[in-house]
Amino acid sequence: MKDSQPKTIHLKDYTVPPFLIDKTELTFDLDEATTVVTSRLHMRRNPECGKSNAPLVLDGGEDVKLIALAMDDYTLPEGEYQQEDNKLIITATADEFVLTCETLIEPQNNTSLEGLYRSSSMFCTQCEAEGFRHITYYLDRPDVMSVFTTTIIADESRYPVMLSNGNEVEKGKTEEGKTFVVWHDPFPKPAYLFALVAGDLAVKNDTFITQSQREVTLQIFTEPHNLDKVDYAMEALKRSMRWDEETYGREYDLDIFMIVAVDDFNMGAMENKGLNIFNSSCLLASPKTTTDDSYLRVEAIVAHEYFHNWSGNRVTCRDWFQLSLKEGFTVFRDQTFSADMHSETVKRVEDVSFLKTAQFAEDAGPMSHPIRPASFIEISNFYTLTVYEKGAEVVRMVHTLLGPEKFRAGSDLYFDRHDGQAVTCDDFIAAMQDASGVDLTVFKRWYSQSGTPNVTVTDAFDSATGSYRLTMKQETPVTQNQPNPLPLHIPVRVGLLDASGQAISANLHDESSEDHVLHLNTEEQVFEFTGLNAKPIPSLLRGFSAPVKLHYDYSTADLLLLMSSDTDGFNRWSAAQQLAVNELTLLIEQAKAGKELSINSQLVKGFKALVNDKTLDPAMVALILTLPSQAYLSELANPIYPAAIKKARHHLKVLVAKALADEFESLYNTHKVTGEYQATAEDIAHRSLKNLALSYWVETDNELAQKIVFDQYQSADNMTDQFSALTTAVHSKHEKAADMLASFYEQWKEEPLVVNKWLMLSACQESEDAVAKVKALMEHPAFDLKNPNKVRSVLGGFGQNLSGFHHSDGSGYRFLADQIIVLNKRNPQIASRLCTPLTRWKKMEPALSAKMKAELERILAEDLSKDVFEVISKSLA
Ligand code: BES
Ligand code: ZN
Repeated sequence: MKDSQPKTIHLKDYTVPPFLIDKTELTFDLDEATTVVTSRLHMRRNPECGKSNAPLVLDGGEDVKLIALAMDDYTLPEGEYQQEDNKLIITATADEFVLTCETLIEPQNNTSLEGLYRSSSMFCTQCEAEGFRHITYYLDRPDVMSVFTTTIIADESRYPVMLSNGNEVEKGKTEEGKTFVVWHDPFPKPAYLFALVAGDLAVKNDTFITQSQREVTLQIFTEPHNLDKVDYAMEALKRSMRWDEETYGREYDLDIFMIVAVDDFNMGAMENKGLNIFNSSCLLASPKTTTDDSYLRVEAIVAHEYFHNWSGNRVTCRDWFQLSLKEGFTVFRDQTFSADMHSETVKRVEDVSFLKTAQFAEDAGPMSHPIRPASFIEISNFYTLTVYEKGAEVVRMVHTLLGPEKFRAGSDLYFDRHDGQAVTCDDFIAAMQDASGVDLTVFKRWYSQSGTPNVTVTDAFDSATGSYRLTMKQETPVTQNQPNPLPLHIPVRVGLLDASGQAISANLHDESSEDHVLHLNTEEQVFEFTGLNAKPIPSLLRGFSAPVKLHYDYSTADLLLLMSSDTDGFNRWSAAQQLAVNELTLLIEQAKAGKELSINSQLVKGFKALVNDKTLDPAMVALILTLPSQAYLSELANPIYPAAIKKARHHLKVLVAKALADEFESLYNTHKVTGEYQATAEDIAHRSLKNLALSYWVETDNELAQKIVFDQYQSADNMTDQFSALTTAVHSKHEKAADMLASFYEQWKEEPLVVNKWLMLSACQESEDAVAKVKALMEHPAFDLKNPNKVRSVLGGFGQNLSGFHHSDGSGYRFLADQIIVLNKRNPQIASRLCTPLTRWKKMEPALSAKMKAELERILAEDLSKDVFEVISKSLA
């Protein structure tokens, strides 16, 4: 541990900035070893700040070396400023002045990938959240918005492309024969949206005509060998631009929009004004190298970053506690966009399944926090599933409470009222409330309370009066930071079915409908439906109308009925999941007790009916047939017995496979897609069902199925089919699995994004010697500790490997801890994210839990970055 404990920052301590920066002029003299950054900051005291003599305190970093400092024309001698804790402090300033500051930075030694760094042969930047201070001294906070002009100087033969935000306004030669380019961004922005890129890049050009008939130039830049993989992203960008005009009335504002792909990037992508920077894994796509999932991800991320131009850039965050203001809202926007481009129900199932697996687990763990956290040590640790995914659910609930028209009125008011401002989540809710007249006072508690609420439902039918009463109770878990949680406003969408599965139109508060939104906003409430002939079967929480854990004692027959007949497609999936969870829970108990696994599965019955239902979207059939993941079963369990979970799930998978072998064979054959590869909803749906069917069928030990796995792997003309066959071979322990893995690497070793998939699959491979195998993988020429994608593939994949990571001798934990310690120094953000599986130690079976804790303590004894310190110390608290 460090000698001085890192400081905790609190939302309640927010104060306005003492100074503003109206204009920011930057000059970069680019050089790999030492880049000279000169800034001219046009500053003045903030009239909204009471203190008229507050000192000027600029943020910097250990890696920024100050060379010269001047106020207006006066060069400040050393005695007239101080440098401490990476801050630059000037006590005596005028009310208005230009501060000139010259600093040196070392891009090629920047391994944290924050600030200005090198990726392949390019220069690029990443400034969110607090990366700009690693470039030069600045008021690096989102409520300081400034108009940027950026001059880039470099050797044109090596860096023919030099980009920054806004429009290129000037280009020429310096006295030394270097090239300079000047960019000007007319929109005031916080420093976190600044970007610079320089390199020998190829470009794809296109145009977009906005709704007001302005022509916008679109450009996607990549290293030349990747230019053949940007067409899909370009089309996705144009779809996003059109969708935001049609759905939110938001038009793009500059004359040019650029995207650059880089190989080394901590996150997925970044919405810098007019110059988005993408991890190449989230931008590049081609049929032969990219799976359907990745195609959909490219489309969603292109949309997400584009949508930030309004929800994030034009209207930004006052401080980083408000992160969900831009991220939760923008995730909601990109989810809706993807739903509109493909299938709404399929998209909803995928998003909810992810939320219930990963966000619920986070919210039940040591890092649990509200979507607007009250405090943090390192903001990078709060780019979480809670801020993003739960944040999106909260915006979705606002949409549900207001209805589409009023929600649109609310978003119009929000964008118009706050254009050019840095605002808070309260401002967002106020706009929604003001435009709609809907009272959101109780609803707002979602922003300040953590944990997943439990909603318990009981019911009673009175045959004499024909009334059906649903009693709902809510309870939010009590934690150390949250001793007295209050009831939340929870919208529960409900429908009723009769015994034959027909939808019933029922009366609630004199309104007759097949679908009602119940407003649960106190601890306990009763909702009474009238005009019924018999006790109905409730379809609860349709479309997952709130991020809660719903408890209702469904019988197996009820679940089978909902699964086959509910008009809400989402709840058909949900019922199947519940039924599978019930059966898996029994099997897990048997496995834990060392008994032979045996079950009279009703799920099989439901599945049989399902595969014969020709009315359903094949993608939905595939989702419903997918058993709950090991990760989701772990989230539900307490304590977690990984070996029992694995055994139980495998047992049920084989059981289903054998019972439905003929069905799977026929599904495989009927859902083949012919013709050229297309990433359309329809083709993706058929491939997903076909490949799922094969993954079951092969579990029957059928020779034909095994041959098909191998044939599909060899003859596939697209990565979805090839990789799916390979994955099935690996997980089913196909006799040729090892050969296939080896040949796959040989085939694709020149394609880094495909190699990443191979690394991931290899790291996930379950076996007694999985730890040794992963160690070997890190010695493989394809591995590179500097590249976050490779680290994520191998160590992220390993974290999900139950027999490797959770090996009973603790070697998996020790190995991951060793890697965290190494990465802590090099790349704290990546190191911190790798800690997640270890932080779940309190929920593990006792023997494993103790071993995990010991590794966490070993890490804590090191000299840690703020990032890793926060996660490890909180998880041991
Ligand atoms: N603003 C973020 C990127 C970011 C996050 C940069 C944290 C630096 C620190 C961006 O808009 C984003 O949210 N990206 C996501 C993908 C998105 C589709 C949810 C990402 O990078 O994973
Ligand atoms: Zn985002």
